[in-house]
Amino acid sequence: MALLIRNGEIVNVGSRVQADIFVENEVITRIGKNLEAPLNTEVVDATGKLVFPGFIDPHVHIYLPFMATFAKDTHETGSIAALVGGTTTYIEMCCPNRNDDALEGYNLWKSKAEGKSACDYAFHMSVTKFVKETESQLKQIVADGTASFKIFLAYKNFFGVDDGEMYQTLELAKRLGVIVTAHCENAELVARLQQKLLAEGKTGPEWHEPSRPESVEAEGTGRFATFLENTGATGYVVHLSCEKALQTALRAKSRGVKISIESVLPHFLLDKTYAERPGVEGMKHVMSPPLRAKHNQAALWNALTQGSIDTVGTDHCPFDTEQKLLGKDSFVNIPNGIPGIEDRVNLLYTHGVKRGRLDLDRFVDAASTRAARLFGLFPRKGTIAVGSDADIVVYDTNYRGVASAKSQHTNNDYNGFEGMEIEGRPAVVTVRGKIQVRDGEFIGERGRGKLLKREPNHF
Ligand code: URP
Ligand code: ZN
Ligand code: ZN
Repeated sequence: MALLIRNGEIVNVGSRVQADIFVENEVITRIGKNLEAPLNTEVVDATGKLVFPGFIDPHVHIYLPFMATFAKDTHETGSIAALVGGTTTYIEMCCPNRNDDALEGYNLWKSKAEGKSACDYAFHMSVTKFVKETESQLKQIVADGTASFKIFLAYKNFFGVDDGEMYQTLELAKRLGVIVTAHCENAELVARLQQKLLAEGKTGPEWHEPSRPESVEAEGTGRFATFLENTGATGYVVHLSCEKALQTALRAKSRGVKISIESVLPHFLLDKTYAERPGVEGMKHVMSPPLRAKHNQAALWNALTQGSIDTVGTDHCPFDTEQKLLGKDSFVNIPNGIPGIEDRVNLLYTHGVKRGRLDLDRFVDAASTRAARLFGLFPRKGTIAVGSDADIVVYDTNYRGVASAKSQHTNNDYNGFEGMEIEGRPAVVTVRGKIQVRDGEFIGERGRGKLLKREPNHF
């Protein structure tokens, strides 16, 4: 069935127009004033509402075996949570560990999503070792449409790569035109500091941050940048959390290193005092890099306003209370991660746009368009234009509510942003022309999501 979205204010990067959008066969076919609605057209009245391109979360974990357990969402729950919050595409980290075969891992991750996700999705392929078959396997994976890699400088002996493996990955990525995303913390320093703190009897979640201080992240960021500089590859720092690492990345950018920066929702809104709360309340806020001292938030917001932080993701990674308690005797055993997929857009709109830190242009860019461009999805995704997929968010700026575990769709028993006010939410969300969400409820087609094939675009 055709769809007509009438009279909304369409917000794209670089333009704002009051117009109608007509959708046929999953794509936008016309944009203009007073478009006719042929018989059998579904009509959405967007008068008084903003109309955004579907939002893209460039960093989520759905299927994730990690720290002796599994992240809680499936693609059914994770994609519904994403859509309710206005995210119509997510890019999942495909994370086989060092002992796994990369290609088998890739096929396993694909099988977990296929026919299950209600929104479109893609993968960043993690390179967690570099052995003789790695190059040919990665070439197959890129040929299959997964044109971005992920490396971890942290998580020694599990996901982490050494400098030689990082070099080999970047050198191959440069040849293939593939962007490499990186978790930048020095694995050796983290391991040593963890042992030192534990030996001093410091076992609670409040010691997670001191075990991976800002300098450890700045070192990882700087090393990644230096390796990019010397291989000519294009890189993307994931979940950058603090001013020290930011300055390091910006210095690299300014000397011409091809490096982009993602920060994630928790680091803009939560600080390390959340992880210092007693017992399991603190554990719920353990993630890596850790929540930081509050002054870092101003630096992140400022860089986001200016566009030198490129994107805002979530690093969505839900572990429930029982799982968090795996670390009750030692912070090193607390599964790292905070959910966020459902609240990213609304909290970014509230704390960014409504609080005057982001104009609408930068908001759409940071939450959708720039990720689409960086990861080879533009203009299919990330913009409202004739020929683009009809992933559309009709946004109600008058809605008032709170982020809460009571109303969330993600499969978890807590919400890291519990009680935070939300000033706006999607009224209608479409995926390739089908209405999937109305006013906070999923009403659409489960399993509608498709794996998005992407071409390398960083030569
Ligand atoms: O704490 C986090 N970030 N958990 C998920 C794994 C990762 O590092 O992205
Ligand atoms: Zn990470
Ligand atoms: Zn992550």
